[in-house]
Formats: sequence, structure tokens, C-alpha cells
Amino acid sequence: MDICKTIDETRETIRKLKTEGKRIALVPTMGALHPGHLSLIRLGRRYADHVVVSIFVNPAQFGPNEDFDTYPRELEEDIKKCRKAEVSLVFAPDKDEIYDDESFFTIRINRMNEQMCGASRPGFFEGVMLIVNKLFNIITPDVAVFGQKDIQQFQMISRMIEEFNHDIELVMGSIHRANDGLALSSRNAYLSSEERTTAPGLYRALQYIEKQIKSGVHKTTLLIDHQKSELEAKGFKIDYINLFSLKTLQLAGTLQHNQKYILAGAVWLGKTRLIDNILIEL
Ligand code: PAF
Repeated sequence: MDICKTIDETRETIRKLKTEGKRIALVPTMGALHPGHLSLIRLGRRYADHVVVSIFVNPAQFGPNEDFDTYPRELEEDIKKCRKAEVSLVFAPDKDEIYDDESFFTIRINRMNEQMCGASRPGFFEGVMLIVNKLFNIITPDVAVFGQKDIQQFQMISRMIEEFNHDIELVMGSIHRANDGLALSSRNAYLSSEERTTAPGLYRALQYIEKQIKSGVHKTTLLIDHQKSELEAKGFKIDYINLFSLKTLQLAGTLQHNQKYILAGAVWLGKTRLIDNILIEL
């Protein structure tokens, strides 16, 4: 397995990996790899001959009061996990390799970041789209794998690939959950043991809402409000829980048949922000 810190050596290694028509899958990460990431790596291998994992805690996607400084960094451990997962190349650049002190171009997003995490984390998706573009240009993968857990990110990348004409097949990995249903996330490491016991409550609330919808409840406001109150009583602070159109990422009004929706939530438990979602097709 190659480990590259610079763009030049990465490009050179990619050139070698791509010989004889070999296909490359990219799994972009911010490190602190957990079984969810490893399942994305396995998925990548089903679509390509070589899997490249990028590990970069991207400063551009953190707000001034967010957890950039405390975000878990475990490069040595991550490298071991990648080696075991038969990754061909780990790209782990320093910040200066990716960003100049001064930049003249930014990415602007219309509408797709108005709701969900885009509403509560200004600048977040601009930072994500910027780094993902850079990674696409550096690695030039045939396939890119992202998880469903960050569904808004996934949908925006899908649209960006189309609009920016990246020649990349996008693949979605399903949400990897602990036995009690909690979606795996590097940020789960922030949870105290008591919070960790409470945390699966978000998924249970989403599952309850999904069940009600599937059994015919199509006016969802009261249903969702009730679940929010229940979660608040358990100590969660609600950022949002709602239904959104999968295509536009706008709030869903009255639900309609043959439409796809995202039932998504973001909540705080102490200092930890948890997100989760369920895809619903009526
Ligand atoms: O989903 C993530 O971990 C990050 O947003 C990504 C795609 C690696 C960009 O930094």
C-alpha cells in the first residue's frame, strides 16, 4: 500500500495504478476510520480494481465554533486499517498541500443547502464541495463512494458531478449501525457512556415515524412534533427532524405516492451532534 502526502506523488502513483485499464475507486474520509468506512472500502472494491482512501480533516468545512481542533485524528491506526482492508493508496495530505493562504475562487451552492445540515452549518457544504472537487481532480477516480449517512452531502455531490462534468460513477454505501441502531460516526467518540446509551433514540424516533407513514399517516407534522418532544424529554436538543424531497432536498409538503423522501434528523446530545436518516419511497 502506498502512502502519499503530496499531490505530485499521488498523481504519479495513480498513473501507475491506472495502467492496463485498471479502475480506481475513491473513498474520501476525514479519518478516525470505523467499520462504516471499512464497508465503504469493501463496496469500492466491488466497483474497481484499486481503492484509494483519502484522509484529510478538511478545515474548509468547519465553522469557527465547530470541532475542527478536537476532531479525532488517528492516522497511524487508520493506515493499519487501510492496509488490512487492502487499500492500494492512502492520500493523507497536510493542510498546506491542499490550501493556499490566499484563494480567489469559491463554490456557491443554490437551494440544495437551504434545509437540513445546510441550514444549521453555514459554509459547511461549500467546504465539502470544494475538497471533493479537489480530490476528484487529484485522484481522477472512476468511482467515488460516499455513505448514505450524509445523505444531503451525497445528493449534492451527485448533482455537482453532473453539473461540473466529472466523469465519475457515484456509489452510495448504506448506513452502518451499531447493534443498538446508532449510526456509526467518528464523532460518536465524543459521547459519554451515558450519552452513548441514549444516542440510539434518534434512530428509534425516525423508525417510529417511518412506520406510521408506511401505515398510511401522510400528514406528518404532529407525528414528527411528538417524536421531537419525546427526544427532548430524553435529553436531546433538536436541530431538525423532518421529511425532505430526495431530489430537491426541500421540505416535503403532503406526501405523495411514487415519490422518494428523506426522513432526516440532526440532534445534539451534550456536545455531540448526531445525524441520521431513513429513505422512504411511497
Ligand atoms: O463525509 C466526510 O467525511 C467528509 O465530508 C468528506 C466527504 C470526506 C469531505 O471532507
